[in-house]
Amino acid sequence: MAQINPSILSADFSRLAEEAKAVEGADWLHVDVMDNHFVPNLTLGVPVVEALGRATQTPLDCHLMIEDPDRWAPQYVEAGAGSVTFHVEAAAAPVRLAREIRAKGAKASMALKPATPIEPYEDLLPELDMLLIMTVEPGFGGQAFLDIMLPKIRRTRELISKHGLELWLQVDGGVSATTIERCAEAGADVFVAGSAVYGTDDPAAAVRMLRNQATE
Ligand code: DX5
Ligand code: ZN
Repeated sequence: MAQINPSILSADFSRLAEEAKAVEGADWLHVDVMDNHFVPNLTLGVPVVEALGRATQTPLDCHLMIEDPDRWAPQYVEAGAGSVTFHVEAAAAPVRLAREIRAKGAKASMALKPATPIEPYEDLLPELDMLLIMTVEPGFGGQAFLDIMLPKIRRTRELISKHGLELWLQVDGGVSATTIERCAEAGADVFVAGSAVYGTDDPAAAVRMLRNQATE
């Protein structure tokens, strides 16, 4: 079953609790943490993650677009995240970090920017619960989906199957009614959607529609 994770980045930050509640029924709430260093944007950190955890029953999927995730990621598990994604480009010791996230009780996930290949990381896959393939350059919502990422999604799905792994394959960036089927066909099963959910009048209905499209 396809999972849909609405990205709070496209929500109205002056009404975060309400916006989080508006997508109850989604699988996870995707929370984009940016530090103005790893990406040229600054969003939110541990105190807001804790507050979101109090505002919704939906588990939190924290996507850390930050430098030095080795140092900061464990705090997001303590703040209540059920899943923590770090970028491999920023991690000094990705295996150690994934093990630490899991040991603290959250799902461990690793993200790849568009220009980062999957092949060097094949042997790391068993250490992860999820792999995130960025389908835009990280930093902002509302960008156009990069079709050239489809072969990487396909190759990653093949590697997951080859090793008989259970890990989820997440895509993030430009996922919408017009692109989600291509992603699902290529092998993704977890879909982050920001503007395609919060840019509509009925975010909960958008989640249901995207899930149906990805499952068809
Ligand atoms: C971008 C973030 C995404 C973003 C997606 O760096 O990681 O999660 O919110 O927004 P859309 O779905 O609008 O591309
Ligand atoms: Zn994200």
